[in-house]
Amino acid sequence: MTARAVAFVLLSALFAGAAAAQGVAADRAACERSYKPERGQEGKDVVWIPTPDTVVQRMLQMVDVTPADIVYDLGAGDGKIAIAAARLGARAVGIEYNPDMARLAQCYVNAEGLGGRARVERGDVFEADFREATVVTMYLLPDLNLKLIPKLLRDLKPGTRIVSHAFHMGGWEPEQKAVVDGKDVYRWTIPAPGTPAYARAMAAARQ
Ligand SMILES: C[S@@+](CC[C@H](N)C(=O)[O-])C[C@H]1O[C@@H](n2cnc3c(N)ncnc32)[C@H](O)[C@@H]1O
Repeated sequence: MTARAVAFVLLSALFAGAAAAQGVAADRAACERSYKPERGQEGKDVVWIPTPDTVVQRMLQMVDVTPADIVYDLGAGDGKIAIAAARLGARAVGIEYNPDMARLAQCYVNAEGLGGRARVERGDVFEADFREATVVTMYLLPDLNLKLIPKLLRDLKPGTRIVSHAFHMGGWEPEQKAVVDGKDVYRWTIPAPGTPAYARAMAAARQ
């Protein structure tokens, strides 16, 4: 190939990439014409505040998300964690109580062209069926994390990884902790029933 031809191919690829990015931005803006959420707005059990991008990336890294994973984000907000997990090739599901927010998040998923791998459903994290998850992500509150422990232990397979932005699980000690741009991130793995680790996790829920 001549130098001119190489330059043409590279420029074409660059323009195609820029046009695609513009298309996604326009589609996302269209989603917001139906509903535009505000940071700190009320949710059922916790307000909506999005996890910063750097923290999202670190959360998914800490639980080693791969295309083999099924990632559930409990309290999905605008779907950014589900979208980031789907970009890594995983199947991703967000559970969001606020129906307008769930619709917006699904609109963003579609705008990103990730509808085949990700979805955001309207639901309550305390009732939703997330037994198929291999990874669970959360940005809730300490008391909600504690309230969720029995369901996490009962429903998830041993070996399922859990990552939480900002909030720990009391006496259920995390196996890893990181600080990203001043925000705490914690990781746990669901232990097998009957093990001391399982008993410790269950005891944490009763504290
Ligand atoms: C702090 S935001 C986190 C959003 C997203 N996971 C993130 O990290 O960017 C918590 C979200 O949980 C939702 N929420 C509150 N209570 C809920 C419940 N019981 N079930 C499902 N979602 C809930 C709120 O509407 C809000 O969007």
